[in-house]
Amino acid sequence: MAGRPASLSAQDVGSFAYLTVKDRTPQILTRAIDTLHRHKSEFFEKHGERGVEAEKKAISLLSKLRNELQTDKPIIPLVEKFVDTDIWNQYLEHQQSLLNESDGKPRWFYSPWLFVECYMYRRIHEAIIQSPPIDDFDVFKESKDQNFFESQESIIALCAYLQELLRTVEDLDENQLKNEFFKFLQISLWGNKCDLSLSGGETSSQKTSVINSLGDLEPFILVNDMEHLWSLLSNCKKRREKAPVIRVDIVLDNSGFELVTDLVLADFLLASKLATEIHFYGKTIPWFVSDTTVHDFNWLIEQVKRSNHKWVSKCGVDWENHIKMGRWVYHDHIFWTLPHEFCAMPQVAPDLYAELQKAHLILFKGDLNYRKLTGDRKWEFTVPFHQALSGFHPAPLCSIRTLKAEIQVGLRPGQGEQLTASEPNWRTQGKYGIFQFDGPL
Ligand code: F6P
Ligand code: MG
Repeated sequence: MAGRPASLSAQDVGSFAYLTVKDRTPQILTRAIDTLHRHKSEFFEKHGERGVEAEKKAISLLSKLRNELQTDKPIIPLVEKFVDTDIWNQYLEHQQSLLNESDGKPRWFYSPWLFVECYMYRRIHEAIIQSPPIDDFDVFKESKDQNFFESQESIIALCAYLQELLRTVEDLDENQLKNEFFKFLQISLWGNKCDLSLSGGETSSQKTSVINSLGDLEPFILVNDMEHLWSLLSNCKKRREKAPVIRVDIVLDNSGFELVTDLVLADFLLASKLATEIHFYGKTIPWFVSDTTVHDFNWLIEQVKRSNHKWVSKCGVDWENHIKMGRWVYHDHIFWTLPHEFCAMPQVAPDLYAELQKAHLILFKGDLNYRKLTGDRKWEFTVPFHQALSGFHPAPLCSIRTLKAEIQVGLRPGQGEQLTASEPNWRTQGKYGIFQFDGPL
C-alpha cells in the first residue's frame, strides 16, 4: 500500500524494538530452556529415555536459535512441516524481495520488528514439534498458570462484584447500566497490564483489586471511545425485536488475570443484554509468552469452577454453561500466529475475515493486536486510527490496549509530544491505555 511509513525495527539503536530484540527475546529463550531443564524428570517419568532425549534436542534447538538471534544471523526458512509452514516461508521470501541485492538476507536486527518477534515464537514452536514425544509441551504454561494463581485475591474480588451485580442487573436504569459497562471495560483494559512478554516471563500478576483503582487510573486513558461502544451496543439492544442476535467478538490476548477480566466483561455483556453472543479468538500455538491458547482457556474456566470461593466457582459454572449453550463460542485460527498485519487478512485468511464480519463489534485486546492493526509502523501520533488500519474494517472495532510498544495513532495535536517531554517512556511500560474505536455507529 502506497504512502505508508516504514516498519518499526531493531535497526533503530536504542529504540524499544532494538532493546526487545537485543535483551528481552534472548531472556525469554533462556527461560524456555530453563523450563525444559526443570521438566526433565517429568519427561522421563512419562516417556522414559525418549523423553530425556527429546528434552535435550529441544534445548539444543533453542540454544541454536538464541545464538542466531544474538549474532544477527540471516533468518532461515522453517523446516518442520506444520499447517502454516508454507505461508511462513512465503512471507520470508517476501521479506527477502523487499531488500536490495547489497542488503543480503533478512536478519534479526534489520527486518521489521513485528516479523522477527513473531518468527522467534514460531521457531520456539518448531523446536518443540521437532522433539517428539514432548511435542505438545507448552514452555510458557507454567508462568501463565502462576499468573492466575498469584492473582487470586483480585479474581475473587472481581467475581464477587460480578455475581453481586448479576442479581440486580435487570433493575438498573440506563445510566447505571452504562456506568457498569464502563467499569467492566476498564477492568478488561487494565487487565492487559499483566502480560508476561514485557517482563521477560517474570511474574506479572494482579495483586490489588482493580475495581477500586479505576478512578485513579482514568487519567491514564489517552484515547477514550467508551461512549461509542455504549451507543453502538445500546442501539443494537433497542433494535433487538428486529435483529435478535447481537454479536460481540473478542480477540483475546493474555491468559491468567487478563483472561478473567475478559470473561467477566463477556458475562456482563450477556447479562445486560448488550450482547446475546460472544465469540472468542485465541492462539493455536504458545505465543508471546502469556497469550491464550484453547488449553489455557479451558484450564482457566475449570480452575475458576473448582475454586473454593462460592462466587468464583459460580462464575466458572455459568461460563461453562454459556459455552454449552452456544452463547460463548471459542475459535482457533492460524492467522493470529502469522506475522501479517491485519490489513492482509482478506487475502491471507478470507474465512476468518468473513467470520469477523458477522460481529456487531470486535474488541481487540492487547498491545500485539494493536501493532498488527496498525502494521507496527512509524505513524505520526495524529494520524487517524482509520487510516492506520489501512483498509481493515471487517466490522466496527475497538482496540483495548495498554501501551507496550512505540506506536500510537489518533492522538490530539501536541498530546504525544507533551507526554514525551514529561515521560520519555510513556509508550512502553503499560502505564497508559486506550479504547480506540473505528467504525460507523
Ligand atoms: O515488547 C513488549 C511486548 O513483547 C511487545 O512485543 C508486544 O507487543 C507486547 O509485549 C505483548 O503485549 P500484549 O500481551 O499486550 O499483546
Ligand atoms: Mg500477549
